Amino acid sequence: MSHALVFAPRGIAHALTITAVAMFGCGGGGQTTEASATEASATSTESGTDSGTDSDSGEAAAPTWHQDIAPLVAGRCAGCHEAGGIAPFSLTSYEDAKGWASLLADAIEDGSMPPFLAAETDECQPRHGWKNDLRLNDAEQALLRAWADAGAPEGDPTNAAPLPEPPSTDLADADESFMIPSGITVDGNKDKFVCYSIDPGYDLDAWINGIQIRPGNPKIVHHVLIYIDENGTSADLADENGQYDCFGGPGIGNTSLIGAWAPGMPPSETPPDTAYRIAAGARIIVNVHYHPTGSGPEVDDSTSLDLRYHPSLPTYLALMQLIGNEYSSWGDGFGLQPGPNDDNGIQFKIPAGADEHSETMILRLDDIPDLRIFAAGTHMHYVGTNMQVQLKHANPQGDEPDTECLVETPDWDFGWQRTYDYDAPLDQVPQIRSGDQLYLRCDYNNSLSNPFVVDALNQQNLDAPVDVYLGEETLDEMCLGVFGVALKLSDIL
Ligand code: HEC
Repeated sequence: MSHALVFAPRGIAHALTITAVAMFGCGGGGQTTEASATEASATSTESGTDSGTDSDSGEAAAPTWHQDIAPLVAGRCAGCHEAGGIAPFSLTSYEDAKGWASLLADAIEDGSMPPFLAAETDECQPRHGWKNDLRLNDAEQALLRAWADAGAPEGDPTNAAPLPEPPSTDLADADESFMIPSGITVDGNKDKFVCYSIDPGYDLDAWINGIQIRPGNPKIVHHVLIYIDENGTSADLADENGQYDCFGGPGIGNTSLIGAWAPGMPPSETPPDTAYRIAAGARIIVNVHYHPTGSGPEVDDSTSLDLRYHPSLPTYLALMQLIGNEYSSWGDGFGLQPGPNDDNGIQFKIPAGADEHSETMILRLDDIPDLRIFAAGTHMHYVGTNMQVQLKHANPQGDEPDTECLVETPDWDFGWQRTYDYDAPLDQVPQIRSGDQLYLRCDYNNSLSNPFVVDALNQQNLDAPVDVYLGEETLDEMCLGVFGVALKLSDIL
C-alpha cells in the first residue's frame, strides 16, 4: 500500500509534487474542559455577587483578579504566558498580570490573543465547533474589559475562585519517545528552520494514534511539524549532527505529514479506531521553526516527540492531506481560476505592491475513496492575509448542505500554523466523496502595509516587495488546505 498517494486526483498530485513542502498538522485531541469554568465565571459577573470587592453603592461590584480573572487567564493564557514559556511575559500571578490589564483586554478584543486563527465569518460558518477552542466568548471578553476599566482590582485571595486544570500536555499512555539527534544554538534576529532526521528503527509498520511534541526550549521553539520520510532519504541530506536547513517543509519528496504543534496545543490524538501508519524502514523528520528571543543565544538540545501505538490494525487510516497550490487551469472551469493581475494567461502571481490580491482554485476530486475530515487548517506564507476553504458536494446526503465551509483563517499569521479538530464524532464530520469540489480562496497583501511582508523582506535583506509566485521559499507563496482525513482501510486494501 502506498500511503499518501493511495489516491491522486488531479490537483492533489500537483499539490504533492510542488509541496512536498507543505505544512503542519493535527490540532489537539482531548476534550474541552474550559467551558464550564468559563460559564461559571461569566455568570458570577452577570449577577455581580461574589466578586469580593468592597462596594456599598449597591451597584454590581467590579470583577476582581482572584474571583473572576485568574480562572480565565489560567485556562486560556497561562500555557504560553508563564515562566520560560513562548510568550514574552507571564500571567500566572496578580503581580504579573495587573500592569497588563488593558493590553490584555485589547489583545482579546482585536482577536490577536489567544492565537487561534480559525474563525467564523459572514462567508464561513463550519457545521461544528473546534475542540480545545481557546477563544473567549463575549461575556468573558466583557469581564476582562470591566476588570481593566475598574483599575484591575485584586479581590480577596483567601476566597479565590478555583483555577481550572491547565490543559494537559501529557499524552496518556505514550509508548515511545524520540529526541532530536543534536542541539542547536539560536541567536540574532532571524528565524531558523531546521529539519532533524530520526531513525525510529521500525522493523514492522507502526500505527500511531497519539503524538505529543515537547519543545526542548519553549522560549524559541515556535512550531514543529512531524513528517514520515517513506524512503529514508532525509538521512542523505542531514549533516553529521543529523540536521539540515529546511523552510516550510521537509525539503524532500515522498513524505507525509502526521503532526504539527504550536505552543499551547494539547497532544494530538486521532479519532477512535483511526491511526497514522509509519512503514517499516521509514525515518521521522522533525521540522522545527525557531524564533530567536532577540536577547542573546538560546540552545535547544531536547525537542522530542512521544508516540502512542495503536494496538491492532485500525479500521481507519489517518492521513494529513495537503490539497491546493494549483498553478494552472485544468480547463472546464477547474484548477487555478483567473486572477486580478494575470498578464500571461491564468497564472499564480502576486505583483509587488498589490495590497488586495486573491488567488482562487476549484479542484474536483475524482476517483477517491470516501474521506472523513476530522481536522482542517490552512497554509500560506508571509504575504497571505486570509484563506477560506469550501466544500461543494456533488450528491449531498442526508442533511448535508450542498456547500459547506470547512475552515477560514481571516487573520492569517505564519507563526501560528496548525490544524483545528472538529468537535464532533467521526460519523458526523464533513465528508469528501468522489466528484466533490474544493474551493480555495487565498487573499494576499504584497505591500509594505503588511507587517509580515516587511518582516520577511528584512530577513532577506530587501527593502521593497518583489513579485511573488507559487513555491517553497520564504518569499514564495502557497494556498494550501490541510486536512486530517480518515479513510476505511477496507476501501483501499
Ligand atoms: C499559544 C500561546 C499563547 C496563548 C495561549 C496566549 N498568548 Fe498572548 N502572546 C503569545 C506570544 C508568543 C506573544 C508575543 C507576540 C506574538 O508572538 O504574537 C503574546 C503576546 C501577548 C500580548 C502582547 C500584545 C500582543 O498582542 O502581541 C498580550 C497583551 C497577550 N499576549 C495577551 C494574552 C491573553 C490575555 C491570553 C489569554 C486570553 C493570551 N495572550 C494567550 C502567546 C500566547
